[in-house]
Amino acid sequence: MTAMLEFDVEAARQVEAVYLTADVVQQRREVVRLLALAAGEAVLDIGSGPGLLATDLARAVGSTGRVCGIDVSDSMLALARGRAVLAGSAPVEYRHGGVDAVPYPDGSFDAAVSTQVLEYVADIRAALAEALRVLRPGGRMLVLDTDWSSIVWHSTDPERMRRILLTWEQHLADPFLPRTLGRQLRRAGFDVAPPQVLTLLNVGYEAATYSGQLIPIVARFVTGRDGWTAADVDGWVEDLQTLGPDSFFSLNRYVFCATKPQ
Ligand SMILES: C[S@@+](CC[C@H](N)C(=O)[O-])C[C@H]1O[C@@H](n2cnc3c(N)ncnc32)[C@H](O)[C@@H]1O
Repeated sequence: MTAMLEFDVEAARQVEAVYLTADVVQQRREVVRLLALAAGEAVLDIGSGPGLLATDLARAVGSTGRVCGIDVSDSMLALARGRAVLAGSAPVEYRHGGVDAVPYPDGSFDAAVSTQVLEYVADIRAALAEALRVLRPGGRMLVLDTDWSSIVWHSTDPERMRRILLTWEQHLADPFLPRTLGRQLRRAGFDVAPPQVLTLLNVGYEAATYSGQLIPIVARFVTGRDGWTAADVDGWVEDLQTLGPDSFFSLNRYVFCATKPQ
């Protein structure tokens, strides 16, 4: 069993399902708005996952633009390459590539974006150096990550929930990245605007929400770790799925907009 969450075929499918919920559709809309893309711009999506954001970016820059996505997961790249791009959108190219070795020349992009990726990365310094390298002077960078200590998730067994979430934190290299990300972006050489917060809030249980789709992802990851048995985890899942109107979930994601100096 690997330490962090591995984006195999099943995990890629689960992530795609959670990213198709209205909660994450709204998050992508906000990310695209904050990037303030102009027609014809070239954009890099670092850790492009299932390609949902890259598809939105392609629409934003239009047919004269260019969108490139890189990822280390073949399962994610397969999902992304199978995704239809709307008429009038930029072409989208996907390449296998790590955040620490971006397969494009210096100054290739007007903008770069990395959502829910850097928290999986051990060497943030190398990742940010690569992002800076492939941006043109004046190019924009948007990074979005979750601070998992911001989670509020109601359960009838708060102690079990606390321990499940402790195991779940192991799915990332840094579950609390946002609190140090501004400093790390500045140290990498970016000019950094004050961060913004996007809250995912689900009240009342519904399967087709961020939290509803997160439950099976957490269940799959924690089972077999820290002594959690399938029966233990089934109990946790059943509790959450039967709370009905008493279900309460809130989680903060932080958005950093940065610029490569001229
Ligand atoms: C939670 S998904 C987010 C996907 C996408 N950015 C989005 O928001 O829709 C994390 C993605 O980061 C990718 N990833 C993790 N570590 C990476 C690395 N070192 N280099 C490139 N991609 C990486 C994973 O393969 C996965 O596709």
